[in-house]
Amino acid sequence: MDKDLSRRNFLGSVAGLAGVAALPSLNLFSGHERLLSADDPAWPAPYTPLDPIEVMKLAHDTFWNGGCGYGSFHAFVKILRDQIGAPYTYIPTQMLKFGKGGVLETGTLCGALTGTLAAVNLVSQKWDKICNELIHWYSQTYLPTDLSNQMAVNHEFDVIKHEGPIEQSLSHSPLCHVSIARWCTLTGATVISNHRKERCGRITADCIGKAVELLNQEYAGQYAQAFHADEETEKCLSCHGPKSEMANVQSEMSCGQCHGNPHAE
Ligand code: HEC
Ligand code: HEC
Repeated sequence: MDKDLSRRNFLGSVAGLAGVAALPSLNLFSGHERLLSADDPAWPAPYTPLDPIEVMKLAHDTFWNGGCGYGSFHAFVKILRDQIGAPYTYIPTQMLKFGKGGVLETGTLCGALTGTLAAVNLVSQKWDKICNELIHWYSQTYLPTDLSNQMAVNHEFDVIKHEGPIEQSLSHSPLCHVSIARWCTLTGATVISNHRKERCGRITADCIGKAVELLNQEYAGQYAQAFHADEETEKCLSCHGPKSEMANVQSEMSCGQCHGNPHAE
């Protein structure tokens, strides 16, 4: 084959491709079809109402064997695996191990939340509302809750490394660092103590337990979002948020916790 011929073939094939691209019915690589096809796994995955207490027990005990992100996600998937089978039999729950300590001890998003949000996103049509609510619920709730403390007092968990009810703290933040630091300041405990770890084990149970409660409501057609960003933050967002003219802030975390009030005299 001489040079000219191969060049002509090349040009010919380019023209042929362009011809295919011009026919919409033959354009295999456009839009949605390029992202998803009919035989991809169905989403949301099937859900059946679960007993929050049962999930909380497994989450707490799993925490001691892989951390908070793994604990919340594994408990949820494992129990659905036992009840429904596939697709849960195909999901290696260890994929959420990175969540621990706010992503590998870096203190960003609380891992109990990370695992929980992944679980909700897996099964829920209303995943965005429920995940948003869980973040605000976490920030505005004294944790660990009375429920997980009572379960520990009753020895409903298999592995308890700090006995009795654990001091409850309010983080005003979904960040692992803020949540743990405020609790350590309150109690004087170190981050490496079993006291602190037991606290986070119970919060792992709390997060996935709360998610199951909300998912059960959704299943019954009774879900309505109850927790939102706090009022102060909404005020700041009226000027800075995505819907404002400046639109220079992408956050629903409590602004004041880091900024104070920068507009005060
Ligand atoms: C009435 C509208 C409005 C509200 C409400 C508002 N801001 Fe601002 N903010 C502005 C404008 C305009 C600027 C830029 C001009 C300036 O620096 O004053 C600004 C600047 C800032 C800056 C940049 C730093 C600085 O001092 O220049 C920060 C941080 C900030 N705002 C945080 C907040 C927080 C936190 C809240 C809620 C407590 C808030 N803002 C509420 C309008 C607002
Ligand atoms: C976890 C801490 C934290 C929270 C919560 C937070 N911010 Fe910030 N914000 C920062 C940091 C850190 C910067 C970067 C500051 C810098 O580099 O000067 C920043 C930057 C900003 C800026 C630009 C600042 C400038 O100097 O121009 C604005 C405006 C702002 N934040 C507003 C908000 C608002 C409104 C909220 C609440 C919805 C909020 N922030 C929540 C930590 C936080």
